[in-house]
Amino acid sequence: MLENKTVFLNGQYLPLNEANISVLDRGFLFGDGIYEVIPSYLGQLFHFKAHFERLEASLQVIRLANPYSYDEWLALLMPLVDATKNEYIYLQITRGVVPKRDHAFPETSVPTVFAMCSPIVVFQGRETGIKAVTMDDSRWQLCHAKTINLLANILHRQAALDAGTAEAILVKDGIVTEGAASNVFIVTEGVLITPPKSNAILPGITRDVIVNLAHEKQLACREEFFTLAQLQAAEEIWVTSSTREIVPVIELDGVCVGKGCPGAVWVQMDAIFQAYKQSLQ
Ligand code: PDD
Repeated sequence: MLENKTVFLNGQYLPLNEANISVLDRGFLFGDGIYEVIPSYLGQLFHFKAHFERLEASLQVIRLANPYSYDEWLALLMPLVDATKNEYIYLQITRGVVPKRDHAFPETSVPTVFAMCSPIVVFQGRETGIKAVTMDDSRWQLCHAKTINLLANILHRQAALDAGTAEAILVKDGIVTEGAASNVFIVTEGVLITPPKSNAILPGITRDVIVNLAHEKQLACREEFFTLAQLQAAEEIWVTSSTREIVPVIELDGVCVGKGCPGAVWVQMDAIFQAYKQSLQ
C-alpha cells in the first residue's frame, strides 16, 4: 500500500501518511518550488547526473540554493528505492514555511524537501500508440524550469483526456513546443526531429537520451523547430518522458499519423532504448 511507503521529508524517513507540511509552506501558497522525476530500474537511478543537473538549473531559475550536494542527494534517495522493482522517484523542493503570506521572498527560509518512490506502471499505449490533440500552448516563458506550477500543463492534459485522447501537443505561434507532460519528436522523410532546447520546453532527460542514441547509431536526427503543418504531415510522431518512455502517436486531431500504427523508426528506436536501459543494469 502506498500509505505505508517510507518517504523522505525534511531530513526524516517516515510513512507517507505521517508526512505533513504546514499550510504556510510557499509551495502550497504560491507553487514556489521545483521538482524532479527520476526513474529507478531495479534500484539503478537512470541518468541521475542529468536529473541532478536539471534540478540545479531549475533551482537557479527560481533563485533557491540547492540544499544538498550531488552525493548527499544520492545518499538521501537510495534508501527509498526498491532494488527489485521499476519505480520512479518524485522529489520536490519548495522555498519553505513562512510566518505569513507575502509574495516577496522571505529574508530567511529553510527549504522543504520531500521525496518518495512509486511504481512505474507500464503505460497503456506505449506499444500500440496513442491519440493526441494539438492546442495552443498557454504556458509561460519559464518552461525550461521544472517548477511545481503545473496548472497550465494539467489543464492541457485534462483537455486532451476530455477529447478522448492521451496527450496534448502544444503549439506556440505556429511552432510545436512539447506535450503537456512530454517532449515531442517527429519523423519526416526518415529524419528524426525534435525542437531545440529553449525556454519554451522542458529539457527532457528521455529526449536527450534518444538524441544521443540516434547520433550513436547514426540515425538521422536534428534538433530544430517545426511547425504545426510539419507535425500534421509527419510520418511518425512520438511523445517522450521518464515515466512513459517513447510513445508513438497514431492519431492526431482525429487524423491517422502515417499508417495509423507505430512507425518503423519508433520500432527501431524503442528497441535501441530498451537495450540501452538493459545495458545499464
Ligand atoms: N514530466 N516536458 C514536460 C512539460 C514534462 O512534464 C516532462 C516530464 C517532459 C519529459 O521530461 P523527462 O524525459 O525528463 O521525464 C517534458 C514528468 C514525467 C512529470 O511531470 O511527471
